[in-house]
Amino acid sequence: MTAYRIASIGGDGVGPEVVAAGRKVLEAVAARDGFGIEWLDILAGGAAIEAYGVAFRPEDLEAASTCDAILLGAVGGPRWDDPAAKVRPEQALFALRGGLELFANLRPVSVLPALVPSSPLRPEVLAGVDMLIVRELTSGLYFGRPSEQRDTPEGRVGIDTLWYTEAEIRRVVRLAFELAGGRRGRLTSVDKANVLATSRLWRVVVDELRNDYPEVEVNHQLVDSCAMLLVRRPASFDVLVTENLFGDILSDEASVLAGSLGMLPSASLGDRKTAHGRFGLYEPVHGSAPDLVGQDAANPLGTILSAAMLLRWSLGLESAARDVEAAVSAAIEGGVRTADLLPPDGDAAGMRVVGTREMTAAVVERLAARVGVAT
Ligand code: NAD
Ligand code: IPM
Ligand code: MN
Repeated sequence: MTAYRIASIGGDGVGPEVVAAGRKVLEAVAARDGFGIEWLDILAGGAAIEAYGVAFRPEDLEAASTCDAILLGAVGGPRWDDPAAKVRPEQALFALRGGLELFANLRPVSVLPALVPSSPLRPEVLAGVDMLIVRELTSGLYFGRPSEQRDTPEGRVGIDTLWYTEAEIRRVVRLAFELAGGRRGRLTSVDKANVLATSRLWRVVVDELRNDYPEVEVNHQLVDSCAMLLVRRPASFDVLVTENLFGDILSDEASVLAGSLGMLPSASLGDRKTAHGRFGLYEPVHGSAPDLVGQDAANPLGTILSAAMLLRWSLGLESAARDVEAAVSAAIEGGVRTADLLPPDGDAAGMRVVGTREMTAAVVERLAARVGVAT
């Protein structure tokens, strides 16, 4: 029996609750399809600060890197928010992303028809929305140095460094071209080339690469107007590729299309291949949601859909990935909703409000039901 090794990092806040959900779904797929999963539990973020005094230990990075994939919840919370603190939970994310060279963060955004009323946007705006945001993840302002506060004769000064090498731009843009080629063939490169030198370099690199992908139609979009178009005509986007900070912000904005931030999954990929696929880190787009912690109230679907991406990209199990996605759609179509998915107009007719665990059970039940159909 094949046994995959997956590092499991719950993190903080609702992180452990949603990772438990993702694990349940992966275990259900494993039991159904006859493979094993060996879990490696790792502490990160605030949990690691409490246990070890650092957000992420080098030996845990080493251990995680020997796995086939990593499933992560979220890190951070009010307890560790002191702006003067040297050790911060979010450092765990940068250690993982940077340390494992996971330079491309894939954030797909689509709209399940039954969730159209969950979005504050009008149904006609949401029709046909199916985009993939490719966010550069290991450079830009998040990694540029210096990044610090200084005391100067003019008072305190804060400095961050926006830095991109052409190689860093090329590898993520190349992947975005390839992904666009396998979809509707449209690539939107998002930048701020009217202001930033890094964005002008980004544009040049995109234009150099377009010769290698003649089947992909490319356009450049400034990030401010892109933010507007994302809610004005979101269905016009196929693949978007952009630098680290813009991708962070635009993807939370785009989650409004899907009905809730709790719906969005992500895959962080690099170049490294394993015996089964591509090594990757899988996590929902949302954070630790401190307002929901311990209430069994977090929407687990972003993490469950991240687990589907894990099956697809790191384990090479495309049909199992689709089954998980179909089970999520079926649960939603069946009227099951976590509170974040209730329509803003208050009309919850035909819907059953459930917690994290019951939503997870609804997905697992539908996964099992598909076996009955198939056999
Ligand atoms: P957040 O994403 O945690 O929450 C934003 C809002 O969305 C909150 O109202 C929350 O209740 C809601 N929400 C988030 N996830 C949900 C889910 N699964 N189901 C239902 N509702 C959900 O963002 P924030 O409040 O700005 O940040 C909180 C903490 O999370 C901060 O410490 C931040 O650094 C951290 N964070 C971590 C990650 C990560 O680990 N990848 C990502 C984003 C934020
Ligand atoms: C995300 C988060 C992180 C980021 C934070 C918590 C550092 O917002 O994964 O989207 O900005 O990358
Ligand atoms: Mn974010």
